[in-house]
Amino acid sequence: MNNDILKTLYSEEDIKQACKKLGKQISEDYKGKTPIIIGVLKGAIFFMTDMVREMDIYTKLDFIDVSSYNGGTKSSGSVKLIKDIDIDVNGQDIIFMEDIIDTGRTLKYLKELLADRGANSIKVCTLMDKPEGRVVEVKADYVGFEVPNEFVVGYGLDYDGKYRNLPYVGVLKPKIYSDQ
Ligand code: PRP
Ligand code: MN
Ligand code: MG
Repeated sequence: MNNDILKTLYSEEDIKQACKKLGKQISEDYKGKTPIIIGVLKGAIFFMTDMVREMDIYTKLDFIDVSSYNGGTKSSGSVKLIKDIDIDVNGQDIIFMEDIIDTGRTLKYLKELLADRGANSIKVCTLMDKPEGRVVEVKADYVGFEVPNEFVVGYGLDYDGKYRNLPYVGVLKPKIYSDQ
């Protein structure tokens, strides 16, 4: 699996440092509050679990599963809700955890969904932000890294459902796509 990677973009150590920094910032911003941290499955799993352990505040955790890439490299343009959260978010402070924001469609969908349900505040924390990929306007509040316009895998991010379990973020060798 590691052999399919052209180059490492963010090492395990880079990611750890980013989580520490963002965790500290969120702990200060949410002091005295108990935000609901919502992990956006499946890409955000590792980032979410690492992030919440860097927060020195009370939190409640939930998960939502949406998909728009169907395992490929191109956004399908429509976001599908696969699994909803269990918690009632009315009046609550929400922080979405994402691995990456690209076109922005996933996040726009999620923010609107929870705003409709009466959330008190909705913020977004993402490991990576790819501003060049934006199709709809949406902003992240906490960003680990701004990434170039390359398709990245690892630390939760997949190609064809694979590579999520790489402990770092890397760029795939072009031959992996062309073989498909
Ligand atoms: C990926 C990624 C984000 C979203 C970002 O999820 O994890 O959730 O796409 O892209 P966007 O800004 O263009 O909407 P994906 O739909 O591939 O599902 P997954 O997390 O299960 O891989
Ligand atoms: Mn995702
Ligand atoms: Mg995906």
